[in-house]
Amino acid sequence: MAAKSKPALAAEVVDQLFCMAELGRERSYSPYSHFAVGAAILTDHNEHIPGSNVENISYGATICAERAALLSVISHDAGKPLAIAIVSNADSPIWPCGECLQVLMEFGPSMLVLTRGQNGIVEMSSVQDLLTNPFTAVLPREDVPPG
Ligand code: THU
Repeated sequence: MAAKSKPALAAEVVDQLFCMAELGRERSYSPYSHFAVGAAILTDHNEHIPGSNVENISYGATICAERAALLSVISHDAGKPLAIAIVSNADSPIWPCGECLQVLMEFGPSMLVLTRGQNGIVEMSSVQDLLTNPFTAVLPREDVPPG
């Protein structure tokens, strides 16, 4: 008999996580791009932590929804990130930008990334599959130049 493969996450958990991501999208502060993004992270403490993109008049100071969610997980000591759900006001699903992937990589390389477009299509990957060659080099302490 063929072994049944277990889904990575139960359908209800995925629905709840997308629901929290939608809440993040509603809270988006995006007066410059009008591109609202919401994210929600599921942790091993069974917490669902939302994040929104927060733009700034100094555009480069903008923070993406994915990083906002992750920083909230860390600052609330909410557990190990297991999955992130992402929604935006784009028709098709969007993937996290490279900067967000690098930050997600630090805390959850095996995190599932679930993304849903307004068209209802859901796509799934993982942080390490999306960012195959992250930056990892750190100088050994003795090599750090003084000053
Ligand atoms: N943005 C996100 O929040 N997440 C992404 O994955 C890509 C882009 C935000 C940044 C900015 O506020 C707006 O979307 C347009 O780039």
